[in-house]
Amino acid sequence: MKKTCYITTPIYYSSGIVHIGNSYTTIVCDAFARFKRFKGVDTFYLTGMDEHGQKIEEAALKNNKSPQEFVDGIAQYTKELWKKLNITNDDFIQTSELRHTEVVQEMFEKLIEKGDIYLGKYEGDYCVSCESFFTKTQIVKEGCCPDCDKPLRKVQEEGYFLKLKKYEKQLLDFIKENPDFIQPESRKNEVVSFIEQGLEDLCVSRTSFKWGIPVKSNPKHVVYVWVDALSNYITALGYNTKNDELFKKFWLNGDEVYHVVGKDILRFHAVYWPIILMALEIPVRFKLLAHGWVLMRAGKMSKSKGNVIYPLDIVERYGLDALRFFLIKEMPLGNDAIFSYDRFIEVFNNSLVNDLGNLLSRTTAMINKYFDGKLTKPLKKYFDFDKSVEEVVNNTIKVYQDTFDKFHFQAGLNEIWAMISRANKYIDETLPWVLAKDENKKQELNSVLYTLYEVLRLVGLMIYPVTPDTAIKIFEQLNIPEKNRVFENLKYWISENASVSKESLMLFKRLDVEAELKFQEEKNNESLKEELNLPEISIEDFNKIDLRVGKVVECNLVKDSSNLLLFKISLDEKIYQIVSGIAKYYNPNELVNKNIVFVKNLKPCKIKGILSEGMILTATDGKVFEILELKKVENGKVS
Ligand code: MSP
Repeated sequence: MKKTCYITTPIYYSSGIVHIGNSYTTIVCDAFARFKRFKGVDTFYLTGMDEHGQKIEEAALKNNKSPQEFVDGIAQYTKELWKKLNITNDDFIQTSELRHTEVVQEMFEKLIEKGDIYLGKYEGDYCVSCESFFTKTQIVKEGCCPDCDKPLRKVQEEGYFLKLKKYEKQLLDFIKENPDFIQPESRKNEVVSFIEQGLEDLCVSRTSFKWGIPVKSNPKHVVYVWVDALSNYITALGYNTKNDELFKKFWLNGDEVYHVVGKDILRFHAVYWPIILMALEIPVRFKLLAHGWVLMRAGKMSKSKGNVIYPLDIVERYGLDALRFFLIKEMPLGNDAIFSYDRFIEVFNNSLVNDLGNLLSRTTAMINKYFDGKLTKPLKKYFDFDKSVEEVVNNTIKVYQDTFDKFHFQAGLNEIWAMISRANKYIDETLPWVLAKDENKKQELNSVLYTLYEVLRLVGLMIYPVTPDTAIKIFEQLNIPEKNRVFENLKYWISENASVSKESLMLFKRLDVEAELKFQEEKNNESLKEELNLPEISIEDFNKIDLRVGKVVECNLVKDSSNLLLFKISLDEKIYQIVSGIAKYYNPNELVNKNIVFVKNLKPCKIKGILSEGMILTATDGKVFEILELKKVENGKVS
């Protein structure tokens, strides 16, 4: 029976589109999944979208879409992006899908029945952006989220609580008994000390917004997004359904299960998720691999700094494998790494163009020139240097298998590149062009080129999980048929037919460092300007917006919503109804009788099932928020 491996990425929030930071996880997991399949392990690779919560509900509203429409659009974009990045995920789960929501509802009910989830009251400081509550001791700056610094909201609601405390000891014992549960070690220590400070029961439902999975027995509550999201790892496998073969195969009876997560979401995975599983009496089968962040020199990527990098921008200019290689090679598991174009270009020119590209082009050119593209399997090795090359190669094969299997891609790639350098040096040591001048040295020359051919074949096999397109190009240059591109052939000096293609191919084209850096700097300036300044428009464009002043005759909080106000505005003896997400800034009563500005000709849409026929104008400087109000004009046109 084949061994199995189940690997997952975090599911990404649908509130925006993924940048290179979060694409990193998907790329690195793809390399791992490809490596496992290459080894013959039956592998299942899952990724997907985390689609519920207030932040997403608000993003949908901003975009004038229903939440479902909005998240479906983002999911479609992300799926296509993963295809373009050559990601080989076996499934893509969206948490708004029925196959997920139904199972989560049942899980929740089971825990209520069992008494591990109970109804209580919650009062606390909540960050919408992080979808998290914070205790007084966690808050560093009064009123601000300790993670993202955005304003905290005071929330008081009836809520369901998960008994974390009950499982505290069981979890600590589990971590002790499974020393490799959390990797790297330093992250494990953080988790252990967090648990040892004592766990408080966790509020696992919300009533302040609707866009979530309703609690079946009490639908005014929706399931807390993290409980909803974490469950994806088993709902995608069909847990608790008739089609639970994947769950049995990859989870219950599986050999290896890995959740790869960024360091910022480790606590949810290392504390809440195992406790949910323990409470459900599902075995905790997974290991956690926590990685660091891709940072910019200025710190975190941020739109306002104009330094957010999106994967397709790099792919379009430098090629997909350059991106995959760079991210995987530069990011050791656990630590942060800085993304800069100067480093990217340096790695591109040194590792890909000089080391790998040159070895391939020099070798194939010489095989074509001296042997018309065909070598014979040599009878022996002729030079002293052969021994040292052989040692390096055999060691690399070993290290490669070991490191890639442990997610230590950086160490593995460094070893492969050391082997490539050794082979380039071997060319300078054996001087094939000198051997070629001596008819009696034909055998020696054949043997030297065969050695190089073998090194390149092994490079192709080994880098396949990281840079699949480049590996395939190498195989094509070396005339290696598909049946030979297999793990079992990770052995040295085994090729029977060592021939190369007549057409030589350039793997990577050298980049002009100065020109590239200038290009990127200009692009960065442009995008910064774009963030702050919208493109110029004509007066005709402006005149398309029908801006009016009307009087608010009625204003009410939308039922079951904490952030939506329903306005009735009178204009030209007609009443317009508009839904606006500004309830957190205004009490509805104080808005009645105000003369406010609104867009009259915005395409009507439904928000929470309520028709909205326009848009209310507001202004903010980031600190203060105000609705646009006129003192004297009651019924008029804005121009
Ligand atoms: N939806 C939750 C995860 C739920 S999993 C059950 C979430 N989503 S996220 O979109 O905000 O982040 C997804 C992953 O991207 C996290 O692992 C996070 O650490 C990672 N990253 C976000 N920015 C990153 C970088 N700049 N660099 C590397 N990873 C980063 O959290």
